[in-house]
Amino acid sequence: MNTVTIARQTVPQTAALAPMASVADTAYRTLCAEHGACMTTGELVSAKGLCYGSRGSAELCRITQAERPMGLQLFGSEPEFISEAVQRLLDFQPDWIDLNMGCPVPKVVNQGAGSALMKTPELAGECLKAAVRAADGKCAVTVKMRIGWDAEHINAVDFAKRMEAEGAEAIAVHGRTRTQFYSGNADWSQIATVKAAVSVPVIGNGDITSGADAVRMYRETGCDLVMVGRASYGNPWIFEEIIHALEGTPFTPPDVETRLREMLRHMRMILDNSEKSEQLAMREARKHALWYLRGYPGAAAFRARSAGLCTYADAEQLAADYLAYRANRAK
Ligand SMILES: Cc1cc2nc3c(=O)[nH]c(=O)nc-3n(C[C@H](O)[C@H](O)[C@H](O)COP(=O)(O)O)c2cc1C
Repeated sequence: MNTVTIARQTVPQTAALAPMASVADTAYRTLCAEHGACMTTGELVSAKGLCYGSRGSAELCRITQAERPMGLQLFGSEPEFISEAVQRLLDFQPDWIDLNMGCPVPKVVNQGAGSALMKTPELAGECLKAAVRAADGKCAVTVKMRIGWDAEHINAVDFAKRMEAEGAEAIAVHGRTRTQFYSGNADWSQIATVKAAVSVPVIGNGDITSGADAVRMYRETGCDLVMVGRASYGNPWIFEEIIHALEGTPFTPPDVETRLREMLRHMRMILDNSEKSEQLAMREARKHALWYLRGYPGAAAFRARSAGLCTYADAEQLAADYLAYRANRAK
């Protein structure tokens, strides 16, 4: 496997796990790293929240060895807060620090942060400059962006060039505009255009759902690394699938027993990593149970049951009942 150096990390050129707030937490990142994700990033953290000492923000910054190499991601639009937040992040020893310039949600955009920064490239540059100065050479600062605000304002290339000029050591491009949110198709041709325009590594992102997609994104965009988000829902094996596709070796998807065993291990990791009660932590874990059960014949009723999981024992029972149902069907 080739290696690639991104944000001062030399990693196999396979696939990174995308940052996903409320989904890709410690348990999720650890699992994906075990299955071959070559880099992970934390959930987006408010620069202001961190500066004001929000406990929730600081909790999002914990990094365990199993998740490394791992970056921490900030959002904000005020250079002073970003500067102080970067200094605080350094205490958590991130492998790099990423600035979010792609988040489309109103709560973030209405403060001029996330993808709104693509409408104010000068301010985005100031934010980045402040982050680079505050990082003081201790770690790389990177940017994750979209391709523009809307179809009439696609400015990926100019924006990426400005970020490079202000000191971004890598740029991840999600091939959608802000107004697309997560709908429509990611425009990979824009990722290719950014790659051709800058000399720092470019990470391509958007709509990779299989090993074949990853191979195609490398080929069509020339990107230095691909990044996978939603296709890893209930499917950390996507990273193994990508490695096999890149190596040209056949990939055998896990059988249902393996999948459900991993689902239970995932639940257990969520509970072990949470300071919340079992019931509250299981509320967050439910969506994962649903995702692991996706695509199986007759699983709809079992998926519906995942919405009511309150304890780990409930999840074990759900897995056992589904396997019993399948065994009966096969008779
Ligand atoms: C639930 C969810 C949460 C996300 N949270 C973040 C985030 O915190 N920071 C970020 O840069 N992108 C975030 N994203 C965007 C993803 O990192 C990625 O760019 C996007 O999902 C496209 O990649 P995909 O098609 O492989 O999912 C999020 C996406 C989803 C679906």
